[in-house]
Amino acid sequence: MEFRSLVHCLFCFSLILFLPFASSSSFPDRYLKSIPPSLRLNASDEYIELTKPLPSDELTPSCSLLLLQEDFGHTIGLPPVSVPYSPPPDCSGPWTHVVLEFLASCQGEQYDRIVGVWLDGVEILRTSTAEPTESGIFWKVRKDVTRYSSLFSQSNLTLSVMLENVVNDVFTGIYHVNISLLYYGENKIAISPLLEDQKYNRKLGFAIQPIRNNLERIMLPYDYEAKKLGFISKDPSGKKWGLQESQLSDEKPADLIIPVSGDGDDGFWFRIQNEADVHSTEIQIPLNTYRAVLEIYVSFHGNDEFWYSNPPDSYIKLNNLTTGRGNGAFRQVFVTIDGVFVGSEVPFPVIFTGGINPLFWEPVVAIGAFNLPSYDLDLTPFLGLLLDGNSHSFGLGVTDGIPFWLVDANLHLWLDPGTSVVQAKSVRYHVPPLSVERHSKFKQLDGLFKIEVERKMKFSGWVNGSAGNFTTHVTKEMEFKNSIKFKKNGMSKEVKQKIKAKTEVRVESDAQELLARTIFKRKYPLEITTSTLPGPDDNTSLSITNISHSLNDISSRGNFSTSVSNSQESGGWMVVQDHSVLSGSANTRQTLTYIDDYGCFSRTVAASNGKLLEDNSTAACAQPL
Ligand SMILES: *[C@@H]1O[C@H](CO)[C@@H](O)[C@H](O)[C@H]1NC(C)=O
Ligand SMILES: *[C@@H]1O[C@H](CO)[C@@H](O)[C@H](O)[C@H]1NC(C)=O
Ligand SMILES: *[C@@H]1O[C@H](CO)[C@@H](O)[C@H](O)[C@H]1NC(C)=O
Ligand SMILES: *[C@@H]1O[C@H](CO)[C@@H](O)[C@H](O)[C@H]1NC(C)=O
Ligand SMILES: *[C@@H]1O[C@H](CO)[C@@H](O)[C@H](O)[C@H]1NC(C)=O
Ligand SMILES: *[C@@H]1O[C@H](CO)[C@@H](O)[C@H](O)[C@H]1NC(C)=O
Ligand SMILES: *[C@@H]1O[C@H](CO)[C@@H](O)[C@H](O)[C@H]1NC(C)=O
Ligand SMILES: *[C@@H]1O[C@H](CO)[C@@H](O)[C@H](O)[C@H]1NC(C)=O
Ligand SMILES: *[C@@H]1O[C@H](CO)[C@@H](O)[C@H](O)[C@H]1NC(C)=O
Ligand SMILES: *[C@@H]1O[C@H](CO)[C@@H](O)[C@H](O)[C@H]1NC(C)=O
Repeated sequence: MEFRSLVHCLFCFSLILFLPFASSSSFPDRYLKSIPPSLRLNASDEYIELTKPLPSDELTPSCSLLLLQEDFGHTIGLPPVSVPYSPPPDCSGPWTHVVLEFLASCQGEQYDRIVGVWLDGVEILRTSTAEPTESGIFWKVRKDVTRYSSLFSQSNLTLSVMLENVVNDVFTGIYHVNISLLYYGENKIAISPLLEDQKYNRKLGFAIQPIRNNLERIMLPYDYEAKKLGFISKDPSGKKWGLQESQLSDEKPADLIIPVSGDGDDGFWFRIQNEADVHSTEIQIPLNTYRAVLEIYVSFHGNDEFWYSNPPDSYIKLNNLTTGRGNGAFRQVFVTIDGVFVGSEVPFPVIFTGGINPLFWEPVVAIGAFNLPSYDLDLTPFLGLLLDGNSHSFGLGVTDGIPFWLVDANLHLWLDPGTSVVQAKSVRYHVPPLSVERHSKFKQLDGLFKIEVERKMKFSGWVNGSAGNFTTHVTKEMEFKNSIKFKKNGMSKEVKQKIKAKTEVRVESDAQELLARTIFKRKYPLEITTSTLPGPDDNTSLSITNISHSLNDISSRGNFSTSVSNSQESGGWMVVQDHSVLSGSANTRQTLTYIDDYGCFSRTVAASNGKLLEDNSTAACAQPL
């Protein structure tokens, strides 16, 4: 049977290029952490991804619903698992928050697997699994999915989960998965006792006050303004902080969500093999749509799992290498409407738990591995084109992509309750060609490859609905820099990448008065250094690697700002034979800091050889913005 989505080249990051015995890309690109249990004394069995606290963390849900309990054994080639969905009968919306909980456990030998969760074809979670150990591991993913509320309130939908796995004599790990939804209702919130530590909170400048909506009690800053609800809570043990983001900083969920996705037999994602392989969905939107945002989900696999470290084909060809990991190191997902480019996004380089050195990711997985980021494109300026009563083709593709990418998207639409038809016109479309500079210099296996890409795009359009005539201006700037250096006859490799993106959305009235302004900035620096040496035994190799990467977001909506900075550094070595890690040692350190106008949360963890050594959280991390 063909291994479709399962071709995770786990460590082939450098081995395929460097090792004489691995120089054939026909070798299956799969590695396992086959470390003997004696080398992982006291390793943690709970795996974690550091994430910012959810707004609902300290609240008690009004109700919860177990949607699926499933064992993913030998599921390769099978369609996704599907179960019916209806909201819990006596817990109907509207909800203040909805949280998806994904619990998993696994024991044995197994590769990391990619997982998609869809409700009626709308993707609500892209996650990947942790590689298990002989004694077994488990983990929990919690994701705020409030933005999909319009779906959760519907009955008789289908929830689908794709997790292609292989189970045989060698790969023994079965992934046990439970998926639940937690609903937080307006009237039924019971604040956890942790919030009642009034004395402590006064000290911090926070008070407990009743507020206008039906939330019984909520922590509010003394300088409370009706438009900015920020609140914070504290666990007296100092261990677990839950910073509550402003409810108003998260906009109202869309009224309607339409998937741009496949038919579901192989999962609803499109499998994109190359740049020409653009997949599309025909969509006719309601005539009273006044706002449209396309949310893109993406993951990269096969020869593009480590796209940011792929040299140009000329290097591979002239050195007679057999790897398929080429085509240079620039990629972006792009979106078209009726074949016309309307936006693009360079994705954050998520590393799966088997990637580069799997010992780095136990028990703290790489940034985004349990909850891959999705990317929003504001398409409101294109409503003039879309609101003609016809269906339009929404396409998704990958610039310079090689097999394979799993991409789909959700079109979030807001409808005007005051009219059945709004008027709209697209007035500005400014998309200069991508500015791409490539520099390539090599002699045999040593060399330097650089790519610099940038672009600034502008789109505007007005929408005239029952609330008035508003013009939306979207400006998107992107800067991408990548360099790959091979030294020591190709045995040493250095990858440095910087991605910067800034999106500004301004909404103006008829009289050119600024009504709303949102700015969103992202930075994703990444550095990887690997040296490969012959290992202690025949057919083994020693790999010494350092990685540092970060995901930094700053967003402001009106006067409210939030920032997340999340940085991870790992270093260590491993001895590899064929596809198995025989021994090794690794350290990972990570700090996540979240700041908004009312407070701050910071968590630092340090892990070594599978053990969590430190886990410190604080709310005294920095001055609010
Ligand atoms: C593992 O834990 C045991 C009991 O807690 C302790 O005695 C031992 O020193 C630990 N071993 C290592 C390698 O940390
Ligand atoms: C799923 O739920 C069942 C029943 O509550 C429980 O026994 C099992 O351990 C859960 N599985 C995971 C992976 O959490
Ligand atoms: C959902 O399906 C059930 C059984 O087919 C049916 O009785 C019910 O009316 C449906 N509900 C909605 C809202 O369509
Ligand atoms: C690659 O193969 C060609 C043809 O066999 C040979 O002429 C060339 O020297 C080889 N190049 C390297 C770098 O081994
Ligand atoms: C659009 O604008 C015109 C004039 O500005 C106004 O009369 C009309 O009611 C608006 N249309 C809608 C759907 O509100
Ligand atoms: C809406 O506003 C834009 C910009 O001010 C203007 O060009 C357009 O004619 C207006 N549309 C309507 C229907 O009034
Ligand atoms: C090394 O690998 C080759 C090819 O797979 C095999 O023929 C040879 O026996 C291996 N040597 C050792 C010592 O494992
Ligand atoms: C990895 O980082 C350590 C500590 O900063 C340094 O000593 C070592 O040389 C680095 N290794 C590589 C391969 O860059
Ligand atoms: C935002 O800040 C500006 C200047 O500080 C102030 O004039 C304005 O009223 C504020 N807006 C809101 C919505 O708080
Ligand atoms: C955690 O806090 C302790 C005590 O303050 C400190 O010694 C340690 O270095 C901290 N660890 C990390 C990873 O920040």
